[in-house]
Amino acid sequence: MTVRTPVGIIGAGPAGLMLAHLLDRAGIESVVVEHRSRDYVESRVRAGVLEHGAAQLLRESGAGERMDREGLVHRGIYLQFDGSRHHIDFMDLTGRTILVYGQQEVVKDLIAARLAAGGSILFEAEATEVCGIDDGQPVIRFRHEGASDEVTCDFIAACDGSHGVGRIAMQRSASTYEREYPHAWLGVLARTPPTSEELIYAYHERGFALHSMRSPEVSRLYLQVPAGEDMGAWPEGRVWDELRVRLGEPELQTGEILDVGITPMRSLVIEPMQRGRLFLAGDAAHVVPPTGAKGMNLALADVRELAAALVEWYTSGSRPRLERYSQECLTRVWRAEHFSAFMTSLLHRDADGDPFEHKLRLANLTYITQSRAAATSLAENYTSAASGVGE
Ligand code: FAD
Ligand code: DHB
Repeated sequence: MTVRTPVGIIGAGPAGLMLAHLLDRAGIESVVVEHRSRDYVESRVRAGVLEHGAAQLLRESGAGERMDREGLVHRGIYLQFDGSRHHIDFMDLTGRTILVYGQQEVVKDLIAARLAAGGSILFEAEATEVCGIDDGQPVIRFRHEGASDEVTCDFIAACDGSHGVGRIAMQRSASTYEREYPHAWLGVLARTPPTSEELIYAYHERGFALHSMRSPEVSRLYLQVPAGEDMGAWPEGRVWDELRVRLGEPELQTGEILDVGITPMRSLVIEPMQRGRLFLAGDAAHVVPPTGAKGMNLALADVRELAAALVEWYTSGSRPRLERYSQECLTRVWRAEHFSAFMTSLLHRDADGDPFEHKLRLANLTYITQSRAAATSLAENYTSAASGVGE
């Protein structure tokens, strides 16, 4: 089977779905090819913080109604270290808030919007190769229900995450900048009421911990563990004990664990993010460690730009914005890369517990909580590094 469409999109994560949605709204057809099932994609637990700009994009595109009803508006975060907790008030420092709303909810809303617009998503269809990107006839080859099929299109948007085929096609001609970390995050989604009204980022001698949430009944909790750690080392009792100690929250109640897993941490940027008629967006082009809460926000910001450039091409035949796509995104991407690496080194305990590094980290944390200028810098980056600082 060969399907013909203007824009072929690989991946139904936040990037691919938002791109399809924005194109639908502009009357431009697309085909979305997704490796996994709808159920799998909708229940995959990942990020939870939307920057002001990302929330605004969902809202303006008509997919933000449930987010505005169920999302939790936070005016800041807590930084905790050396036994005390300090509030960083984003609203006071920058005039901006953040919205806590799970990535899987964003995905559900965007799938619903796509289907409501009469579009479809080809689930359980694995893209195996992209070709023709340099000679004007791009093709996505994919496997669906045991057969080999293809999508022929004008442009391919590879929104297929950090292990997709889009990046492979690009890597031959692009530069890859990469950093591995000696840490990973053990993440738990649990049916237990959050013990704090806003997020707590805790730097503790035993390692970093983060208290986030999804609703007044469901908490999202993370623990720093060594890279390569096995879940077998973390029976439930140990997870809860460690969370209570590192977060300084003895009242945190044990609750049903709805999801648990260990995520490795790395930084990666592919530069440029485009080649011929292939465009990378989201994790396909860049990966950040989760400490700055930037992954999903960057993915949405990329496709906002890509959609605008494609709309310009289809409505006026104008190419400059498409040609500038990568350049336009990379300034923002590197800002978010820097902030994510900074937050990671600020809040994670070294594997060898280097006492000098520990003291430097405490000095920096103290500075951030005592200097309005330093706190403003953190607040500015946290609330808008992925959608444009100062926006
Ligand atoms: P993805 O959401 O990865 O979507 C890519 C889609 O492409 C997937 O649906 C995938 O199934 C599909 N796909 C892949 N290959 C193919 C193929 N060959 N053919 C067809 N489809 C394909 N960020 C944070 O800020 N905080 C967090 O706590 C956090 N936790 C994370 C936990 C995990 C396990 C992971 C992997 C990421 C996490 N992130 C987190 C990062 C954040 O979730 C991502 O930045 C975000 O998902 C990026 O969206 P995306 O659409 O670019 O990619
Ligand atoms: C969440 C994830 C993050 O990576 C982060 O920095 C803050 C919150 C979350 O899942 O809620």
